[in-house]
Amino acid sequence: MQLANQTAIITGAGSGIGRATARRFAAEGARIVVADINDAAGMETVAAIESEGGTGRFVHTDVTVAAEVEVMVPQTLDAYGGVDILVNNAYFCAGDDILAVDEELWNRNIRGCLSSAFLCCKAALPHMISQGKGAIVNIASVNGVLGLGEEAYSAAKAGVISLTQNIAVRYGEAGVRANSICPGSIQTPAWKAVLEKDPDLFNRLSKWYPLKRVGKPEEIAAAALFLASDQASFVTGTNLIVDGGLTAGLKRMGEELVGEGTE
Ligand SMILES: NC(=O)c1ccc[n+]([C@@H]2O[C@H](COP(=O)([O-])OP(=O)(O)OC[C@H]3O[C@@H](n4cnc5c(N)ncnc54)[C@H](O)[C@@H]3O)[C@@H](O)[C@H]2O)c1
Repeated sequence: MQLANQTAIITGAGSGIGRATARRFAAEGARIVVADINDAAGMETVAAIESEGGTGRFVHTDVTVAAEVEVMVPQTLDAYGGVDILVNNAYFCAGDDILAVDEELWNRNIRGCLSSAFLCCKAALPHMISQGKGAIVNIASVNGVLGLGEEAYSAAKAGVISLTQNIAVRYGEAGVRANSICPGSIQTPAWKAVLEKDPDLFNRLSKWYPLKRVGKPEEIAAAALFLASDQASFVTGTNLIVDGGLTAGLKRMGEELVGEGTE
């Protein structure tokens, strides 16, 4: 059990990557606080954890609201006596071309992805520092390292990577590690509405991936487990890209370059 006797807060754990991470961490012995805005979904995750022999509880939290985050952390401490791991996974994504994005929508993306991570880190860090140990895993995105559109979301995710690096540098000597993960396209309910309109989307997207497929939530959960566990005891400030090779290079461009005869 890699996370025995540890307490993990996982935001957005009512669905997708957050739920898979909550179940994986619970299977490794962690007590889980499922922090989500969706009560029914959050309670379903807790039920799944318990049916698999784990321990967890749901704490309704809108991670964009400071007052709710400031209650979520003390509730965790009351229930389980500490907070060892924080996974910032909840998000908001809408809008594409900045010329069609108004300030309100821009701000919602920044609040949903970046300010939420800031608020949760700010609330959990003092407890990690006083324990002399803690691990933060922030879920960013390949959108944070490549221009793929959805500018507000992408800029927020780039901000998440920077926030992570700065926490790692500032609080390393206090025993806190902070790392981010950039998933590529992952099959989660986030895609439900898009796939209903365009059922072939994942097949088309798969062509861009060297592994010729999109990812599964459990594959991000496995990366989060590594970063949260003592297996990563010397890993901090890193941005772990888990994208089936998407950002490693462009095969077609490579083929064209060689075709040009650059000998
Ligand atoms: N699915 C992908 O292809 C993909 C790719 C790259 C990055 N990501 C990132 O992975 C993370 C999880 O994505 P997913 O696909 O599992 O999403 P999802 O839609 O399946 O789940 C998101 C969960 O977050 C909760 N949530 C939303 N706003 C919240 C708030 N303000 N407070 C608390 N909870 C809130 C939702 O209720 C939901 O349970 C996100 O950070 C996302 O940006 C996903």
